[in-house]
Formats: sequence, C-alpha cells, structure tokens
Amino acid sequence: MAFPAAFIDELIVRNPIEDVVSQYVELKRKGGRLFGLCPFHGEKTASFSVSPDAQLYYCFGCHKGGGVINFIMDIEGLSYPDAVRFLANRAGLEVPEDEAYRSQYKLQERLWALCRDAARYYRRQLFSPEGKQAVEYIVGRGLSRQTVTNFGLGFAPPGWSGLLDAMKEMGYSVDELMAAGLALRSQKSGGAYDRFRNRLMFPIIDIRGNVIGFGGRVMDDSTPKYLNSPESTIFNKRKNLFAMNVAKKSKLGYIILTEGYMDAIALHQYGFDSAVASLGTALTEEHANLLSKYTEQIVLTYDSDEAGQNATRRAVPILEKAGLKVKILRMEGAKDPDEFLKKFGADRFRLLLERSENHAEYQLQTLERRYDLSLDEQRVAFLSEAAQMIAGLPSAIEREVYGARAAQSAGITPEAMKIEVNKAYRRRLSREKKAREREAMAPAAHAQPESRSIRYSNLRSAMAEEGLLRMILREPALLDQTGDLAPEDFSSPLLGRAYAALRERSREGLQVSLAALGESFTAEELAHLTQMSQKKNELVSEDAFRDYLGIILDESARSGVRTDQDLLALRDRLKQKKGYGG
Ligand code: UTP
Ligand code: MN
Repeated sequence: MAFPAAFIDELIVRNPIEDVVSQYVELKRKGGRLFGLCPFHGEKTASFSVSPDAQLYYCFGCHKGGGVINFIMDIEGLSYPDAVRFLANRAGLEVPEDEAYRSQYKLQERLWALCRDAARYYRRQLFSPEGKQAVEYIVGRGLSRQTVTNFGLGFAPPGWSGLLDAMKEMGYSVDELMAAGLALRSQKSGGAYDRFRNRLMFPIIDIRGNVIGFGGRVMDDSTPKYLNSPESTIFNKRKNLFAMNVAKKSKLGYIILTEGYMDAIALHQYGFDSAVASLGTALTEEHANLLSKYTEQIVLTYDSDEAGQNATRRAVPILEKAGLKVKILRMEGAKDPDEFLKKFGADRFRLLLERSENHAEYQLQTLERRYDLSLDEQRVAFLSEAAQMIAGLPSAIEREVYGARAAQSAGITPEAMKIEVNKAYRRRLSREKKAREREAMAPAAHAQPESRSIRYSNLRSAMAEEGLLRMILREPALLDQTGDLAPEDFSSPLLGRAYAALRERSREGLQVSLAALGESFTAEELAHLTQMSQKKNELVSEDAFRDYLGIILDESARSGVRTDQDLLALRDRLKQKKGYGG
C-alpha cells in the first residue's frame, strides 16, 4: 500500500529521529552526532549513532541503519505500513488509507478490540465463583498470582454461550465472533456457540500488544489438551510466537524458544523473561525472522522426548538461515522446562544455560581463532581438530549441528564434515573400547579407592561398575537398559548401593544425580562416588554400556550370585533391547 509522498515527508518531520530513538536508547551528544548502545546487538561501548542533520541512524557494530521509519520497523518488528501508522499515531496524524485497505484495517481493529474484551471476560470468570476449579488448577501448577496477571490468564466457563452473550451485550456481532475464531456455528440448528468451554485460557498477544487469539487448556485428562484459536484475519500462527510481546523487552541477550505455553510461562516466572513458545506448530521461517529482529542468540529448549529432538533438528537450520546463533539446551531428568524448573529450580536451569553456552560453541570459536581459515592447509588442520572435538559430544544432534557449523566456517559441505566427525567418533569409540578391555584384563592397583575403608574386592568388576554408574549419571535413560541387573550383582557394596539409590530416584521421577544422595551415604562414601564419577570422560554409548554390563554379570555369575540360567536369560533380553542411540 503506497502512501502519498507528501504524507511521508510530513510524517518524518513530525517524528524527529533523535526524539523517537531516545525513547528506546539513551543517547549522548558527541560532535554533530548522538551516540548510544545499539538496541539491535549486544555491546558495551556505544557504536550506535544518530545524525539529527541527516535524520538517519547507523550502527558501526552491526551495520543497521536508516531513517526513522526503518528504525521503528526494526525495533518494533513492524511492517512498513504498520510502522507508518505507528509514527502517525505518535504524532497525531491521520493516515490517508485507500478505501479497501481502510475497511480491512477497520475489521482488524474491530477483531483486536473483540479479542481484548474476550480476554477481559475470561479473566473476570477466573475470579468468579465459577472459576474456583481453574484457580485451583493454576495453584496446583505452581503459577503465582503475578504470573496470572502478567500473562492475563483466564477461564472459559463450561456453558455454551457465556462469551457470546457477554460480547453481544457489548455490541459485537456473531459474525465478528466467528471471524475472530471465538464462536462456532452448529451444523444442525445453525445457532452459534462458544468455541472455548471449560478451559484455562492463555491470551496470545502480538508484538504490538494486540490480543490476536487464545490457547485453552483442559484441566483434566480429556482431549484435545490444548485448543487454539484458528487462523484469522488477525491471527497467523506462522508469524506469531507466544510471549514474544514480553520477551522482546528482555535484557537477557538471548531468546529461549520452547514448545509449550506452560514452558514459556514457567520460565518467565523463574526470571527468564525472554522465553517464547511456538504455538503448536513447527517453527517457520517467519518465526525465525521475527526472532532475529530482537536477538542474535537463540537457546532451544524443546522437550527431551523423541518428538522434541526431531523438532530441534528441524529448527536449527531455519534459525541459522535467519542469521541467528543457536544453542541447544540439553535437559536431563525432566521432560520440559516447566517440569525441570519445578523439580530443580532456577539456579540449575541457569547452569544448563551456561553449559550450553560455553560448551561446544565456545570450544569451536576458540579453535577457529587459532587458525587462518583462508589458507587451505590451516583449514584442513582446523577441520580435523574440530572433528575430534565434535566427536566427543554426547548427543548425535549436537554432533550434527556443530559439525555443520564447523563446515560452514571452513567452507565445506555439512555432508563432508559429517563423514569426518563420524570417522573421529568411531575411532574414539574403538580407542575407548580397547582401553576398557585393557583395564578389564589387568586392572591397575591404583584403581583402588583412596579411602582405606572402601576396598574393591574384584577390581575387574568394580571398574565396570564405576563405568556403568558414570554413564547412568550422564544419561539416566540408560537405567531402562539394565535389564534386571540387581544391586547384589555389584562386587562393590558401595557401588551397588549407589546403583540402587539412583534407580530408585529415577523410578520416582527424581533427579538422577549424586548430589541428591547425601542422606544415605557417609561423607567418605560420597566423596569416593564423586571422585569416581569424574575420573573419566568417556563417550556414552550403547556399546560401552553393554560391555560394562556384560562384565558385571560375568563376574557376578562367577562369584555365584547369579546362576548360569539367570545369566543366559538376562543376556537374551538385553540383546532384544535396542533403541538407545546416544
Ligand atoms: P505438550 O503436550 O508438550 O504440553 O504440548 P505442555 O506444554 O507440556 O503442557 P502441559 O505442561 O501439559 O500443560 C506442547 C505444545 O503443543 C501444543 C501447545 O501449544 C502446547 O503448549 N499443543 C499440545 C496443542 O496445540 N494441542 C494439544 O492438544 C497439545
Ligand atoms: Mn509440560
């Protein structure tokens, strides 16, 4: 939609760039220009400049620049026409829109108003007597009063026309309610009824602050668990992210991308105010572009299940294509961030964030700086060292993602790098296997615990027991693959007890870690467990795990704890089990 040139000129005059920018950035005058910290990239020294004479801004750091309209487009994440409207509104100017566009815009404004009023209605219901059960549900999920307010949570009552009646009363038509996706029409009677009934309501708010739709969650086990507003004139799922309106103001410097409403909300409640959620759809290019307007760094915290891991794999290239840096946060002991925070708290989550931060990303960057990648010889050396480093990463996804990143830095294809990484990975596996075999053949005397009161009676088995526990601590899911390995199979009573305790915690859904075992072990025992858990940093692999398991069972049978029959049956079952792929 083209605006008259004269109008645009007027708009620019009435919105001096230095005034507009000052509302977002603290500016200090230096010579003929104003300088401040760039709002578009993280920096500590001011390289963002505004020239009142030219009515332009420019950042010497990230090279963004333009006039006042571009600035608003960038900082508010608006399209050109919306930025023009934004500035017109700021200066009290009337926007000359053409007729067709005007009516479209009017409809949009009408639906925005309707959704806002609907959100207010749901909110009132939450605090009415009828909303008691919903309040209980909210409390049960650990949401604070403040969180409920911040996210404008509400309750859609169980009746068929609560919202319809209230909105009609306010002058909205049934057609408008249908257009906003809030009402449905019965096939049989033709009568309209509320789409959302007996659900906890999450308003979806766009970056301008307009309510554009809702998610509604059941409060029991019925399905669908979440019902979302359908696509409408104002709600485009491909373009909007839940909580983006809040996250865009975050000072954290990165945006945390989650799978669910509750994950994003829980993160905010625990102080991570840059969390957003994609709304039950796969991440799109539009989402990625939107994100890239507000941050350079994404932290992916999708669910730890298979579906979540697949979603991660799909999301990374989309985000990277939009120029974003991506970190993958690996969660253990919890299915999603909401669950993790409730179980382990904010500090532990911060640790995960830091680990995801420093880990591979950091190592790769350090490596890159040591080589001059414009020289073939150095590139080859860089790639081979990078492949070694990446081969040591515990998950296949991380190896894939960071492999692709190294490939990009050195200008080779991700496929070629993948081959290199896999080679290094296999070499590493076989090296570790040999070391395990050597150790099993002739366990070193120094493998005995430091503490005099803890002695290993069977070193061969004890080394395998240590190895098995180390892997379980790094990858608790392996506990599902121990068959009926019993604590009594352990030659070391201490290690057997540690195994029993970890297995018990896993069964109860608790965190599988040594830190939580304090009560049932002496300080000396715990110190030994800690030391042995950090002794080695071998790859977690199914292969190695089975080797350890085999040795323990072997030795156990030899010492008479297991009968041969027992052992054969166990071996058989283990063989049938597959699935853990690291
Ligand atoms: P999940 O099933 O992982 O739910 O769906 P959750 O976020 O852990 O929710 P809680 O903790 O059980 O309340 C993740 C996201 O997928 C979409 C929603 O956006 C949800 O937040 N979804 C899920 C739907 O749209 N419909 C559904 O029926 C289920
Ligand atoms: Mn959840």
